[in-house]
Amino acid sequence: MLIAGNWKMNTDVDSGTELAADIAAAVKKSDLGTVALAVCPPYVSLTSVREALGETSVALGAQNVHHEDEGAFTGEVSAKMLLSAGCSHVIVGHSERREYFSESNQDIQQKVAQARANGLVPILCVGETKAERDAGDAKNVVEQQLRGGLAGVDFGAPDDLVIAYEPVWAIGTGDTATPDQANEMHAFIRGLLDDLYSSAFADDVHILYGGSMKPHNAEELLSQPDVDGGLVGGASLDAESFIAIAEHG
Ligand code: G3P
Repeated sequence: MLIAGNWKMNTDVDSGTELAADIAAAVKKSDLGTVALAVCPPYVSLTSVREALGETSVALGAQNVHHEDEGAFTGEVSAKMLLSAGCSHVIVGHSERREYFSESNQDIQQKVAQARANGLVPILCVGETKAERDAGDAKNVVEQQLRGGLAGVDFGAPDDLVIAYEPVWAIGTGDTATPDQANEMHAFIRGLLDDLYSSAFADDVHILYGGSMKPHNAEELLSQPDVDGGLVGGASLDAESFIAIAEHG
């Protein structure tokens, strides 16, 4: 079980460091068993958050990565830079980047490949819009995003890849997918991973649910057989809420 927090464009260095310290303190007081945690702060806070997390096992992730090793790409951040800041994970293909920055499946595949080539664990986001679901295209959209994002990329162990199913209509809306909706799509995604790689690989890849996961609905979502964790937005900005979700893992 993996619970990851996507802080998006929230917190500055001071408040992000304080949030990380609060999460670290809450982790030390909690019995999370085998539940793994990760936090994905803005770039500017990666090193200070890493330091604030201290000796806890909370992993550090970024929210994006450039697909080239280095060069004249003003404003961009490379995989090697993320590694040097202490990142082990990186979110790739979030629906907000697909929407606001026109990231295509091809763009996202290049980012996944770059992450993999540098030993970062990509958290590949897939998910349909309300219009696509209402039109009955949800699975087609998710299949295109998954196959497109993973095309030609091989992985060693199942822990080298994380998938996040984030129905766009559930992100930031409070309109959470039902446990059945989530589990049905997660099982579909797992079947695609079986086809792309192997059943052994597919069985053990973490498929996270994202989209208005909160302390009050986490248990019913995380109890689903094909839900292996959560990618949490708003609720991850409060240490108590984030740990409360993890305690349901
Ligand atoms: O990446 C996670 C995010 O998209 C979910 O956001 O606020 O609905 O938990 P939220």
